[in-house]
Amino acid sequence: MLKGKSNLEQRRVKVIVPATTANLGPGFDTLGMALGLYNIVEMEMTHGAGIHVAVEGEGTGALPLDDTNLVCRAASTLWKRVGFPTDGFSVRLKNNIPLARGLGSSAAAIVGSLTAANLLSGGRLSDDEILALATEFEGHPDNAAPALFGGFVVSVTDGGQVRAMQLPVPPKLRAVVAIPEFELSTDSARRALPKQVSMQDATFNVSHAAMLVGALATGQLRFLRYAFRDKLHQQYRAALIPGLAQVMEAGEAAGARGVVLSGAGPTVIAFYTERELGGAIGKAMQRAFAASGVESKILLTSLVSHGARVA
Ligand code: HSE
Repeated sequence: MLKGKSNLEQRRVKVIVPATTANLGPGFDTLGMALGLYNIVEMEMTHGAGIHVAVEGEGTGALPLDDTNLVCRAASTLWKRVGFPTDGFSVRLKNNIPLARGLGSSAAAIVGSLTAANLLSGGRLSDDEILALATEFEGHPDNAAPALFGGFVVSVTDGGQVRAMQLPVPPKLRAVVAIPEFELSTDSARRALPKQVSMQDATFNVSHAAMLVGALATGQLRFLRYAFRDKLHQQYRAALIPGLAQVMEAGEAAGARGVVLSGAGPTVIAFYTERELGGAIGKAMQRAFAASGVESKILLTSLVSHGARVA
């Protein structure tokens, strides 16, 4: 949830924004959670001095350093919408979220930018309006909503309106991610999906997503093994991610309650409850990726209840 000063005098702001995992298996374009891995967006009004961008960490040398940077485009769009004239600003990005891996790096850039730009222009937009604008940029709300609100978020787009419901994450639930060395753009991962699915597969996902939300919301974690299953996107994306099925099986065999593709991939995320199993689950997934010729990095991460906030 957005916190911090919102006065017209503020000229500089630093926002910390979490990585996110979207879909959670059956909740395609709907479910997401915030992870304990962060980017920092620092923004300063520098009247008359043009646009300056500096990047540290992930994306250094790859992200554009001019007004085409996603952070600049998001901020400029917000200022135009609220009628806030600007003639120069600088942005400093400290990025820990790897790009194009299914960990919400673009949602973090957009939400971090919109949160900062909103504060610098007097905080005229509500959180719901920021989410709507972030969803225009992303095309779907399932990363942007947990990046903004934190925790476990169910998002619905209906009649052009985005509604997001934040739910608590069961305190016992933990996650370990296997992040492959290669990038996969969301665009190509979406192009792999069919235009139509069968009623049977749609029903499978509706029932599993409903059980997943119920299990997480009530803490009935014994249902998670079934609830994380999906038939709408993972099987189609498997062709783009060598070893995906084996990595998911290896994580489950090592004790995870559920193993799913994180967002559009290629990262795989395993959810577990017994603290001591995290390392073994991670190693099992890493070995399974390696058996398919894919190097990966393992990260044990917490599931965090806070979203974007002033640092
Ligand atoms: N729900 C989206 C997808 C997440 O799976 O394509 C991508 O960030």
